[in-house]
Amino acid sequence: MSSSSIGQRYVFTSFGESHGRCIGAVVDGCPAGLELEEKDIQKMLDLRKPGQSVITTQRKEEDKVEILSGVFNGYTTGAPITMVIWNQDQRSRDYENLTLRPRPGHSDYPAYIKYSGFNDYRGGGRFSGRLTATFVMAGAIAKKLLTQTIGVDTYSYTCQVGKIKMNSQAASKMKSSIYSNEVRCPDPKIAEKMRSTILAAKRSGDSVGGIIESVTTNIPVGLGEPIFGSLESDLSKALFSIPAVKGVEFGSGFYGSTLHGSENNDEFITKNGKIVTKTNNAGGILGGISTGMPLVLRVAFKPASSIAKKQHTVDVKTKKPISLIVQGRHDPCVVPRAPPVVDSLVSVVLVDHALRAGFIPPVIR
Ligand SMILES: Cc1cc2nc3c(=O)[nH]c(=O)nc-3n(C[C@H](O)[C@H](O)[C@H](O)COP(=O)(O)O)c2cc1C
Repeated sequence: MSSSSIGQRYVFTSFGESHGRCIGAVVDGCPAGLELEEKDIQKMLDLRKPGQSVITTQRKEEDKVEILSGVFNGYTTGAPITMVIWNQDQRSRDYENLTLRPRPGHSDYPAYIKYSGFNDYRGGGRFSGRLTATFVMAGAIAKKLLTQTIGVDTYSYTCQVGKIKMNSQAASKMKSSIYSNEVRCPDPKIAEKMRSTILAAKRSGDSVGGIIESVTTNIPVGLGEPIFGSLESDLSKALFSIPAVKGVEFGSGFYGSTLHGSENNDEFITKNGKIVTKTNNAGGILGGISTGMPLVLRVAFKPASSIAKKQHTVDVKTKKPISLIVQGRHDPCVVPRAPPVVDSLVSVVLVDHALRAGFIPPVIR
């Protein structure tokens, strides 16, 4: 299968380039009978789109989705669902000198060598964060399917920007406030500090990274297959496809490696007749299979590479050192735009496994 598609039963293909005619998604394998209209997808796209605040890029992208196939009389038909966004507000001249003068930290250099300069470099082409809008198209449908059929609920929020962190215990009680501020952190006081950190980076012509935590509840026991189809493998593969992601961890993650087994093991208990674990250091996955406990994962984003500060690079043709000031309207921190993207890819992977395991039927009634 090509590298633009993911999934076995819910097969999502992402297409388009940042400054081409359009970007879009094809979803093949969505059951028939799901009530679906453009506004179901638009709602989630609107949470990701740029130009909404001073802490994201000032590019104005309307990101208006059109469904071209797979929906009839307001319901999915079981046929492939094709969705597009026609591109607007492109300033391709900002990118003209970047193929031969690669930005430090961006894809310009390896892409130029790999495709011998044939790749569409405008706006970052296939490597652009803009392509994450296509993830959200497929994710919005997956999320709706999961909620309606098996009651799965996913939320993702900014839990760290630079060195400013939010305590994840508090987040579950505040999840309704995630989108009440531009940072997408449910704690308003921490959100304000994160905002100041992003603005300070922006003012100095720089950028800053951060972490998104994602929590999914009500997952049935049994999603995920040994060995290469483990839930962790498939989720990691999907999440590492988000540009700027440099780390994914589950449950106690890297911190867990500092603990003893007696501290990290989650003991089984019975609660209201159901087998659960007292703690959830496993993050809801054992042996690559969902345990029924909440799926908890964190995704680390590097600071965006396109910064206004002067940097050093090399002219690819002459191999001579040159200095570079990146033009254009870039995100000083990509994290506030990414919670819906993380939500989407988690939902895409979970729905694929739920279909494979027979938890979702081929027709929704
Ligand atoms: C929502 C989103 C928006 C992004 N916006 C920018 C941006 O404005 N400027 C930039 O340099 N990188 C941006 N990125 C990251 C780059 O696309 C990414 O760093 C680049 O393609 C290189 O890939 P890598 O960082 O995964 O190695 C964005 C990423 C996401 C998820």
